[in-house]
Amino acid sequence: MKRILIVGAGGQIGTELVPHLQKIYGIDNVIGADLRDDLVVKMAERGPAIKLDACNLVEFAAAVKKYDVDTIFNLVALLSAKGELNPRHAWDINIGALVNSLDIAKECKCSVFTPSSIGAFGPNTPHDSTPQDTIMRPDTMYGVCKVTGELLSDYYFTRFGVDARSVRFPGLISYAQLPGGGTTDYAVEVFYSILKDGHYTCPIPKDSYMDMMYMPDALNAVSMIMEADPSKLVHRNSFNIASMSFCPKELFAAIRRRVPSAIFDYKVDPVKAAIADSWPNKMDDTCARKEWGWKPKWDMDAMIDDMLKHVSAKLGIKLSI
Ligand code: SER
Repeated sequence: MKRILIVGAGGQIGTELVPHLQKIYGIDNVIGADLRDDLVVKMAERGPAIKLDACNLVEFAAAVKKYDVDTIFNLVALLSAKGELNPRHAWDINIGALVNSLDIAKECKCSVFTPSSIGAFGPNTPHDSTPQDTIMRPDTMYGVCKVTGELLSDYYFTRFGVDARSVRFPGLISYAQLPGGGTTDYAVEVFYSILKDGHYTCPIPKDSYMDMMYMPDALNAVSMIMEADPSKLVHRNSFNIASMSFCPKELFAAIRRRVPSAIFDYKVDPVKAAIADSWPNKMDDTCARKEWGWKPKWDMDAMIDDMLKHVSAKLGIKLSI
């Protein structure tokens, strides 16, 4: 990777992946692209940034050629809960950006990273120690798009030699940019709510386990998989990666040990509850560990300490733990 274009760069992952890759490859070699003007303006404060609709093939291809790009990171996606509000729209956006990324990569000889997700699994998937290769029958449009992405990415690799690789992200927890419209968002929202209001009402059932990951581990996974020795990769799209798994009850008990005044209650959202229930409790990431050396650094307790520190600083709240 020498010249990188990140589409959908203004979202939760891109906000931190852009500086992460700029640190490794140089600021001028990583171009952030987003559809939203305000996000492009924000990105432009620290490096190259362009306005781009990744669903527009002509516009997208022109940018790849203009900036002599050799690696595309396609982060464009409507998340799981939002996708259920307008499934056809979610399909158009998620698959539009995916197919354009792959076709442009084929034409311009680029590598491609399109994240997959725990959302690629479904109710019939084994929920504990979810294997790398198993039943994938998601029942959300987000999941249907993620499985399609995995299959198409592998197809473009075997049929056309496009160097497409990816990982199945757990719910990502970070403080730099909020997620939006996801089922795992509660694990981010809770920090803002308890610090601002002392109280959080959770839309996910208290015993619903899902894989989660702190953003620094997710960023390392992305740069590691894209730099992995291709001769060692048995799999490509996409690798299970895991670091922590918890349910709301466990997360809130651990937060309360640090912020004893925090109050938690539940108003379960049936759509989110059904989605959470259909996803793995904990994935088995042995293949990622063996094939490219994946190893997470952050567990739940370290993540909570770091989130409390950064979110309170962001909100200008003095927290004594
Ligand atoms: N965080 C995503 C969601 O909840 C899953 O990858 O939709």
